[in-house]
Amino acid sequence: MTFSTAAAVAHPNIAFIKYWGNRDDEIRLPQNGSISMNLGDLTTRTMVTFDSSLPRDTFDLNGIRQSGAALQRVSQHLNLIRGIRGFSAPAHIFSESNFPTGAGLASSAAAFAALTVAAVRAAGIEMTEKDLSRLARRGSGSAARSIPAGFVEWFRGDTDTDSYAISIAPADHWDLVDCIVILDSNHKATGSTEGHRLAQTSPLQQARVKDCDHRLENCRDAIMHKDFDALARVIEIDSNLLHAVAMTSNPPVFYWLPATIEVMQAVVDWRLAGLPVAYTIDAGPNVHVICESGSISRVQEKLAALPGVQSLLSSKVGNGATLE
Ligand code: DP6
Repeated sequence: MTFSTAAAVAHPNIAFIKYWGNRDDEIRLPQNGSISMNLGDLTTRTMVTFDSSLPRDTFDLNGIRQSGAALQRVSQHLNLIRGIRGFSAPAHIFSESNFPTGAGLASSAAAFAALTVAAVRAAGIEMTEKDLSRLARRGSGSAARSIPAGFVEWFRGDTDTDSYAISIAPADHWDLVDCIVILDSNHKATGSTEGHRLAQTSPLQQARVKDCDHRLENCRDAIMHKDFDALARVIEIDSNLLHAVAMTSNPPVFYWLPATIEVMQAVVDWRLAGLPVAYTIDAGPNVHVICESGSISRVQEKLAALPGVQSLLSSKVGNGATLE
């Protein structure tokens, strides 16, 4: 390998049934399966160039040269790919996203999905979608779900071989929209990698995991039948369960702000009043409000009038990771 380059695009995803806690932190084998939809309007584009004349890996993210942990995590991921083909050429990685990193989105999902697809191609390796998903998982668990298109399920699996994600419905199956309510774009939360480690310390984690297959089934069915009410019920409970585990971990992690609870409460009130809308919250204070595309302007108008809302971002369902 002297010189070879490839580029790929990928989208972040929002989990309806969430990944929280690993059986194996090293290879990111999750304690439970998860379901998500890709966010097609939010995009990360990554170019990987292997070049044996480079002294070491370099990584530019949104125009800023990275060092330390960010560079190390990317280099480690490339080492897996270099290992498959048995070469050691350093790489230059150039990555840009069209969404703010402080939005509390799992930006590592889009980042590692795009990095995996670009680097595998640049290394001249042919891989199935399943194997790309397994490999992306090693960089960031949720990245496994940004490889396939549309609505996606990541199987827990028992080993590295069978823990991967597949598309359970294409992007155009259901015109859902994620309206992301930014309440704090500077929040320094406990990152998800640390959150996964802490999950085991909560006495509630076992109960959350034990009941997960049931929630996965309800969520899958709700998506298949486009049953918004059923989807709303299962995703709100699943999100609450993640936060109950975080709040009871040792040390405890509180991701919510007072405004987070105000948005959650408003969303539930609007649904009870007949507007199909539901919330889900990742490892941060911002709220993902899910609705059908027909109600997006009403939902946005109502959200913008709530206290503490800094800005709103929205996205339709998107495709999987693709080469450019
Ligand atoms: C709360 O995939 O970001 O968003 O594997 O350590 O990179 P790492 O964790 P990550 O965890 C995502 C956690 C979550 C829920 C989810 O997306 O399923």
